[in-house]
Amino acid sequence: MPTQNTRLLLSRIGKVCVAITGSTAAEIVEKTAVVVKDNPFIEIRLDYLDQPLLSLPVLKTFLSENAAVTAIATCRRQSNGGRFPGSLAEERDILCQAALCGFKMIDLELESAEAFKQADLQKIRDTSVPLLVSYHDFTSTQDLQHVYDRILKFEPDFIKIVPTAKTLSDNITLIRFLERVSASSNIIAICMGAPGIISRVLGVRAGSAFTFAAATVGEETAPGQIDARTLYETYRIDEVDAATKVYGVAGNPVQHSLSPLMLNTAFRRETLNAVYLGLQTAKISDLLKLVHEIPIQGLSITLPFKQEIMPHLERTDPISEKVGACNTLLRGHDGKLYGFNTDVAGVIGPLEKRISLKGSKVLVLGAGGAARAAVFGLRDKGADVFILNRTHETAQKLAKQSNSKALKKDALPKGQYDVIVNATSVGMAGTKGIPLLGPDDLRAALVFDLVYNPVDTHLLRMARQQNIPVITGVEMFVQQGARQFEIWTGKPAPEEEMLRVVIHALRQHANAAAASHTPETPSVRFDSKMRSTIPPEGTKDSAVRVAKRVKAS
Ligand code: ATR
Repeated sequence: MPTQNTRLLLSRIGKVCVAITGSTAAEIVEKTAVVVKDNPFIEIRLDYLDQPLLSLPVLKTFLSENAAVTAIATCRRQSNGGRFPGSLAEERDILCQAALCGFKMIDLELESAEAFKQADLQKIRDTSVPLLVSYHDFTSTQDLQHVYDRILKFEPDFIKIVPTAKTLSDNITLIRFLERVSASSNIIAICMGAPGIISRVLGVRAGSAFTFAAATVGEETAPGQIDARTLYETYRIDEVDAATKVYGVAGNPVQHSLSPLMLNTAFRRETLNAVYLGLQTAKISDLLKLVHEIPIQGLSITLPFKQEIMPHLERTDPISEKVGACNTLLRGHDGKLYGFNTDVAGVIGPLEKRISLKGSKVLVLGAGGAARAAVFGLRDKGADVFILNRTHETAQKLAKQSNSKALKKDALPKGQYDVIVNATSVGMAGTKGIPLLGPDDLRAALVFDLVYNPVDTHLLRMARQQNIPVITGVEMFVQQGARQFEIWTGKPAPEEEMLRVVIHALRQHANAAAASHTPETPSVRFDSKMRSTIPPEGTKDSAVRVAKRVKAS
């Protein structure tokens, strides 16, 4: 039976508890004052303080002056994954003292609870502050029921179980566990780690009393933790419910993908009850298991699965077949998975806005995955395609498959191209490489770089210096995402808004990288490899039509 204090507490808290860290009380108070303006439910990590016990009077003053704040006191010992170097008895004293200082919940790790004598536990109970007993597994997701039973012996008011997801399937274990026990206890369960990110959003819907968030990016207290602003604004945690449709980007890695930001923004803009998550996995079988266990409506597929996914699909659109890769999955009403390639649309769409491709002369640099999408898309539109690649044999192979021409650098025709498309990774943040073309080789009416991070690549700067119009890779990234949105929802995508948030995020990455004098986040490169395309017949409308056909099938 929940105590009155627990009932009161439950009525005060929201779905998100923000973890606050700092080495001094002043630092914690400063950070907390900012956080609680938006989110009055916080966890203060006393174990991060240099002198936890001596800091408590300052925190007491703050809490008494900010009555709306609900704070959990945590003082996890180093042996249990925290930072507190002191003894068990010292932990007990700090937590008891915290209870007298206005903290509304005490977090005691299971290992300490089990090590305490009955009298020590009683001291904590005597404070009458609701008790949360927590367990963290920093390496794996094991038998959660067993941990639960161990915790239950202490009859706590709240139970917190935080394993580490090594696979996407570990999230299924956690979600099923939550669904089973949440009716009979106040349970909080989350998977740590990059593959566990999905549990941070879907856990609440499965019955977790709340979830944890970092105060800001960079202040995470657990691997995979999402900052509070992103949890509210991007993932709309407050609105996630049983009816929320789930989408995601599957690949390895996806942690720094801009797709969740872009697609969640689109869902929000169009007021759709849908959420888009990062699904990081090393194995396609793991992804397929998740898709079948959790009704995921649609997926963006990125490296390294764009080709590997093909045999697992009920059907794919013709351009995916030609390219040999697909970057978009839709779950039909029959529960089966259908594949599309919007990478092609990502290349063709921006070009068709500017020129007529039929009969045009296009030089494609590269012969990898992105180049294949560009070449087949361009050939589909009746362009004459020339391929230049570092490895000539790969260019020859692609040229043969697509009925185009492979060229060597010294045999480049002296004439003018309508377009030059860079589909190599040269120019991406975090990579090195010599551009295939120099300034004198840019004989084109238009230059399109599929690399989007940085937005202004070396190639585009060269082109601008010669007054050649350019298309940035951001446009391609947004186009492929917009077409995915349309395939999944049947609605026109809010492209301008999607473009705005992606450019804003890229600028922030660039500024942060410049400020820290480090190379720009190389992992964003991953998404730039999602230089996706147009659907089958190559128009926006056709994408929607195909999606509708599949949905109806
Ligand atoms: P993506 O899916 O992004 O296209 P990919 O399939 O690995 O990635 O293809 C990368 C392309 O960039 C290839 O055309 C590659 O040339 P090779 O076939 O010779 O490997 C090209 N590329 C990568 N690094 C390069 C470099 N330093 N200089 C020139 N071309 C490069």
